[in-house]
Amino acid sequence: REARALAGRRVLVTAGGTREALDPVRFLGNRSSGKQGIALARAARDAGAQVHLIAAHVEAELPQGMRITRVSSARELQEASLAAAGESDVVIMAAAVADYRPDTVGEHKMKKSEDGTDPVIRLIRNPDILRGIVAQREERGLDQLIVGFAAETGDPEHSVLDFGRAKLRRKGCDLLVLNEVGTDKVFGRDDTEVVVLSARTGDESGARGSKDEVARFVVARIAGEPGVGTGG
Ligand code: C5P
Repeated sequence: REARALAGRRVLVTAGGTREALDPVRFLGNRSSGKQGIALARAARDAGAQVHLIAAHVEAELPQGMRITRVSSARELQEASLAAAGESDVVIMAAAVADYRPDTVGEHKMKKSEDGTDPVIRLIRNPDILRGIVAQREERGLDQLIVGFAAETGDPEHSVLDFGRAKLRRKGCDLLVLNEVGTDKVFGRDDTEVVVLSARTGDESGARGSKDEVARFVVARIAGEPGVGTGG
């Protein structure tokens, strides 16, 4: 019974890192491999959910048995995510979204300057997709569970958990999956450690293990939220 904890639920998962174009051949990107998001999509599928995976740049094989949409930039991810979220019972926002993008995209490949001056890249803010999904839920009165991610490092005055609690409140999502990132701690690796914070129940519990094990834990936590799972 536990294996089908999300039977029939429509689950949207975003995964991977966005790429923000500078010109036709260059981009600003990040080190996200997409492995955790893809593991979550598989775990939700295995729990009986009808999964829609929106994948930005990933370095892992895309899974079978689900709908997949490919995107590149944050704004493409935003458009696809908002549309898909309108038809989802659960939204898992695991993608690593660039906070900024170059304010202009060259139509042609940028050339080295002839006069020795170095180019300057000006960045502008990308939309916060997660916040947009939370806002859309309020506007449409959707019955939807929204899961955000946070990769934090502590500082001398604040623990990683303090940052996670603050982010959960600020983003307005229902669950926050908190990763502590240090050099080499999470990105691209096969094992990980998370704490899942619930806004609805106040529950804070963690798991460590492979990204598949952590994904199964997170999916069980999602299914255990009031009004979400099908099990008892
Ligand atoms: O604020 P921060 O980037 O740490 O928040 C991380 C969470 O917000 C993740 O769930 C990420 O997918 C999401 N996010 C987003 N749009 C952005 C930046 C982050 O949806 N522009």
